Amino acid sequence: MFDTKKSIVQELFLPQFNKRNIQLFVKRDDLIDEFVSGNKWRKLKYNIAHTKQQKKTGILTFGGAFSNHLLATASACNAAGLRALGLVRGDELNPDSNNLLKKCAELGMQLKFISREEYHLRKEKSYHEELTFEFPNYQIVPEGGSNYYGMIGCQEILQETSNDFDHIFIAQGTTTTSAGIALGLKESCQLHVVPVLKGFDAKAEMNELFKYSGIESEMVAEILERTAVLSEYHFGGYGKYTSELLDFMEMIFKITNVPLDPVYTGKAFFALVDWVTKTNATDSKILFIHTGGIQGGKFIEQKEGRTFS
Ligand SMILES: Cc1ncc(COP(=O)(O)O)c(C=O)c1O
Repeated sequence: MFDTKKSIVQELFLPQFNKRNIQLFVKRDDLIDEFVSGNKWRKLKYNIAHTKQQKKTGILTFGGAFSNHLLATASACNAAGLRALGLVRGDELNPDSNNLLKKCAELGMQLKFISREEYHLRKEKSYHEELTFEFPNYQIVPEGGSNYYGMIGCQEILQETSNDFDHIFIAQGTTTTSAGIALGLKESCQLHVVPVLKGFDAKAEMNELFKYSGIESEMVAEILERTAVLSEYHFGGYGKYTSELLDFMEMIFKITNVPLDPVYTGKAFFALVDWVTKTNATDSKILFIHTGGIQGGKFIEQKEGRTFS
């Protein structure tokens, strides 16, 4: 449905990398689609296939008022001929509350605004049973597309590269994308994950997702051993940012023309550059996975009067 050929592997030239003989590449998943951008299509692809296979008529999913996942689900379901139902956190909201919700509604997504208390139940089995009873023709997909099908879709990212990198860097929210990447990791490659949430136990979350997906514990242990968590780059927590981060993103955009966002990819790219500087790394081949987020980034860009996309 969405063409992943648009997601090129692009070489970037940064002076501090060149002088250390480090080759830096970016997997540009942000180029896949305007709304179903970055890891969103990766996570939705097999969820959509599964929904059709189950002969369900639509996808029910969850998100906050500015959820890129909601918008991506609305757009992908629209293209796939499926219905979409979004359960949105905040019963004070309505489809006109912001442009993202407006766009979801325009794309045909039915929006149901629920209280924060009800939203809190979104991972509970009994709540899912209630929802299945109320909406029997809808396949439930967790917030952020964080399930087995999402992870398997993300496994395809590395398959579209030469997969001969020494290091891979990626932003982390629910861990679904990084878990998918980790599954296809070459033995000599180290995965560096950058959680954007403060106090996030990245390895425990990845472990949970692997276990839930039935992956052997030996393989899980081996994968987690090759995963390094760069936990000091959340810049205050989810959705928070500093002028240092925005300055950095503007500088990278000026040099490379690669857009970043302050919620996910900006933090991960900052961590990558800082890691190279602090470890004095040399002679290696690095891949940065661009997971998208540009729509959300544009919102902050306008608010802050900056240019990073
Ligand atoms: C732009 C962007 N990058 C990275 C992530 C983190 O991905 P994950 O939740 O799979 O860890 C997200 C969240 O889905 C995102 O929207």
